[in-house]
Amino acid sequence: MTNTGMSRVAIVTGAARGIGAGTAVRLAADGHAVAVLDLDENACKDTVERITAAGGRALAVGADVSDADQVARAVDRVADELGPPLVLVNNAGVIRDNLLFKMTDADWDTVIGVHLRGAFLMSRAAQAHMTAAKFGRIVNLSSSSALGNRGQANYSAAKAGLQGFTKTLAIELGPFGVTANAVAPGFIATDMTAATAARMKVDFETFQKGAAEHIPVRRVGTPEDIAHTISFLVSEGAGFVSGQVIYVAGGPLD
Ligand SMILES: NC(=O)c1ccc[n+]([C@@H]2O[C@H](COP(=O)([O-])OP(=O)(O)OC[C@H]3O[C@@H](n4cnc5c(N)ncnc54)[C@H](O)[C@@H]3O)[C@@H](O)[C@H]2O)c1
Repeated sequence: MTNTGMSRVAIVTGAARGIGAGTAVRLAADGHAVAVLDLDENACKDTVERITAAGGRALAVGADVSDADQVARAVDRVADELGPPLVLVNNAGVIRDNLLFKMTDADWDTVIGVHLRGAFLMSRAAQAHMTAAKFGRIVNLSSSSALGNRGQANYSAAKAGLQGFTKTLAIELGPFGVTANAVAPGFIATDMTAATAARMKVDFETFQKGAAEHIPVRRVGTPEDIAHTISFLVSEGAGFVSGQVIYVAGGPLD
């Protein structure tokens, strides 16, 4: 355990794997009780076991973040079983890449629904607990794709939208002791980037090597790189950092 601060209840969405799993494990090691939320409750078990094996507290919660009823039920359940959630990491995400002329209505709606509507529904449900406690930390996962990326009109719009959403939450919730920030990762090795490599018919190792050549620190990122930044943003001491977008990409982005 690297427990150095207060113990809170945290919800990490999309925490069955990838960046969400890494973040859930890290926040548990920091001393928080963590609700590991993903579409399928069973898929959360690996992350929960990693946390409990290390001596932490975790709860598997199945919910679709784009569904208002499921979100309300999930947040209520976390409050009942772990305590009021005062830390929220909106990490759940999907990609449906296609060039604009081939992008379907469903590709658009799914991506906007999970990232933007999902972050909205989760934040609205969780803020009730945070404002009551006069403390809260919200972190939204944006992306370097917010700056524009070929084949990702839906995803880049959602990730840029999350930056505006984050700044507005910071303004509205700041008076209640709640901060909101966005972390915008560059290339992180996860199932999501592996799927992109597969779609482009490139072996994942080769794909990562190619990406690393264009990254100043000459490597791709890991879920732990993102978890470290999120750990800072949700810490007690980060209470004066709000409404920021932090690119975690191994170099500057323009
Ligand atoms: N991997 C990268 O390079 C990268 C870069 C920038 C931003 N991001 C963002 O970071 C976040 C995590 O990405 P990742 O690479 O770990 O992806 P991933 O695909 O490995 O994991 C995403 C998780 O979200 C879950 N999820 C999807 N839809 C959901 C829904 N409706 N409700 C609940 N859970 C849902 C999935 O089941 C999965 O477990 C995403 O928001 C992604 O857009 C990733």
